[in-house]
Amino acid sequence: TSRTPFMTADSSPCAGRVAEAACAKVNLTLHVTGRRPDGYHDLESLVVFAAVHDTLLAEPAEDLSLSVTGPTATGLAADDPDDNIVLKAAHRLAREAGVAPRARLTLIKRLPVAAGIGGGSADGAAALRALVRLWGLHVPDTALHALARGLGADVPVCLAGRAVTMTGVGEVLTPAPALPPAALLLVNPRRPVSTPAVFRARTGNFSPPAPLTEAPETARDLAAALARRSNDLALPARSLEPAIDAVLSALESAPEVLLARMSGSGATCFGLFATLDAAENAARTLATAHPDWWVAASPLVGETATVVPSLP
Ligand code: C5P
Repeated sequence: TSRTPFMTADSSPCAGRVAEAACAKVNLTLHVTGRRPDGYHDLESLVVFAAVHDTLLAEPAEDLSLSVTGPTATGLAADDPDDNIVLKAAHRLAREAGVAPRARLTLIKRLPVAAGIGGGSADGAAALRALVRLWGLHVPDTALHALARGLGADVPVCLAGRAVTMTGVGEVLTPAPALPPAALLLVNPRRPVSTPAVFRARTGNFSPPAPLTEAPETARDLAAALARRSNDLALPARSLEPAIDAVLSALESAPEVLLARMSGSGATCFGLFATLDAAENAARTLATAHPDWWVAASPLVGETATVVPSLP
């Protein structure tokens, strides 16, 4: 086996239940800067988080199990349970640490699936965090980062869970410039979008943008800085899923919106607002006009905020 000697179980695993928030990841900008021989793409992306999240619960048990509940759990029903990223995370962490994979895991799913906000990646990262606590492991950051990278390109950024600039295929994380207080309105048309299909549909040149280095003082300054950049996956995603156009135009015409853009490979789009009040007002209007859409307002989670996981 591939046991890493410095990952040892200490003598005090957690006796009770642990809960971790798996927060929505939002790509404020996303530039595709190259294509690798293995088919993956080099990216440059400014990533922040929203407080809207799945919750991962881990409790002591004799063996490993996962049950999925919550409003968007049905999106996962077709998944192969052996291919589930939460179970994969548990098995791989246990193998690396040389412990038996014993835990009763519950995933409360609130984020839409295949939605460009890293739901599955956030769940995988939350499982790693929860099981490190439950099993009382001392895991160096570099080892946890490598485990996360093995689970998917977006899992390391979800493990970080705070504003960063992401390069490489997603695994190179550098601190983001300080961001002003702001709020996000996330809107998804409840149409899953395949990330590999969006990358395949992308055409055109690779053009690395000037990274966002200045620290914007207000949400309006942030919107202006973001407006000089883009999400390179928006065009191919919109060609595959026209519902994204409707979401973007609804967000663009929301009162007080500073910027509207797609996140990740879609279909979720975000509106940037100066205040949570403004984002919540727009959320109410949009949810009434489009009862079939998934709509969530949240503060933008920057460098220091911690999100307390919601329980059922
Ligand atoms: O790593 P993950 O399984 O999350 O990636 C899903 C798919 O997205 C990959 O198979 C690849 O087609 C595409 N991808 C990419 N470049 C990245 C990240 C993802 O081409 N940097």
